[in-house]
Amino acid sequence: MRILGIETSCDETAAAIVENGENIISNVVASSLPIHAETGGIVPERAAREQIKYIIPTIKESLKSLTGDPAKQIDAIALTVGPGLIGSLLVGIETAKALAYIWQKPIIPVNHLIGHIYANFIREDSKLKSQNSKLNKIEFPAIALVVSGGHTDLVLMKDHGKLKWLGGTRDDAAGEALDKIGRLLGLPYPGGPEIEKMAKSGNPKSFNFPRPMINSDDYDFSFSGLKTAVMRHVILRAKPEESDISDVSASVQQAIIDVLVSKTVKAAREFNAKSILLSGGVAANEELRSKFKVQSFGKAQDKSEKLKVKLFAPQKNLCTDNAAMIAAAAFFNYKPAPWQKITANPELHF
Ligand code: KG4
Ligand code: ZN
Repeated sequence: MRILGIETSCDETAAAIVENGENIISNVVASSLPIHAETGGIVPERAAREQIKYIIPTIKESLKSLTGDPAKQIDAIALTVGPGLIGSLLVGIETAKALAYIWQKPIIPVNHLIGHIYANFIREDSKLKSQNSKLNKIEFPAIALVVSGGHTDLVLMKDHGKLKWLGGTRDDAAGEALDKIGRLLGLPYPGGPEIEKMAKSGNPKSFNFPRPMINSDDYDFSFSGLKTAVMRHVILRAKPEESDISDVSASVQQAIIDVLVSKTVKAAREFNAKSILLSGGVAANEELRSKFKVQSFGKAQDKSEKLKVKLFAPQKNLCTDNAAMIAAAAFFNYKPAPWQKITANPELHF
């Protein structure tokens, strides 16, 4: 089954065709990020206007990989209905409805957060995967960490469609904290990848920033206090040197990673997870991925700390917003809905 996915929840306009939820036929992402870099963050109205400009060219580009009439080669259309910015969401939703009407195809509404998790089900390299199909198979129960610009959530996944939200951030999302801290440090938007770059030449032990809620008896997170701690540091230093920015970046990154790893591993132990699924833009962070590897596969000093769990992280371009993950989520949770019932839901949760 071939599904055309459409994703327009924020500042990326994306369209992708995915076969059987795992093989990418095309994956096109147009980002209005450079425009938001000018304002140091996303202005929703501008993001929506950019969506209008890019939606048709993006879908057309994604259809180029098909030969012949796309109406005959696509079985269904999947679209993000929330959470996200209302103006941006509406552009994708109305376009998807129009296409579904013209082509007479089923239409499947997808929760963007669940979409992020399903980026893990897409084959990175089909040849490699078929050789190691057993090794690479996601097994349930799984613990999914969705860590993006708008969300930091831990979810227990017992099977497709059987999700239980365990906890999430009480204030800023991890990506949001990185973006705001990046701004404090004078780095370009978005701060996450910039902090990762700066951190490479910094010492993560330079500053002992707080690890908020790391030992709390729940699966919640809080990152706004960390932002305040960095703000105090920056104000006290008046004019930070480049080396200081690297050290702050490395220390902040480490603080966030410590909390994310600790809470995810705790959940994996409690629910005897067979797989850990990382997802969302922050999961593109190399240091985060490697710290998870160490925890899951037991390079930790104490062998009893070893977790018998398989770790999955999508290839980097599938961590940040894309439409392939939306098509994959729709395949594994195939629930077409009448178009009249499909509306934008900016506050949608798990
Ligand atoms: O998933 P995503 O593309 O959009 C949302 O749904 O929010 O995530 C964007 C977030 C931004 O906060 C960005 O700074 C962060 O992901 N991000 C990173 C990296 N790449 C993107 N954070 C840390 N390291 C990265 N390499
Ligand atoms: Zn996202």
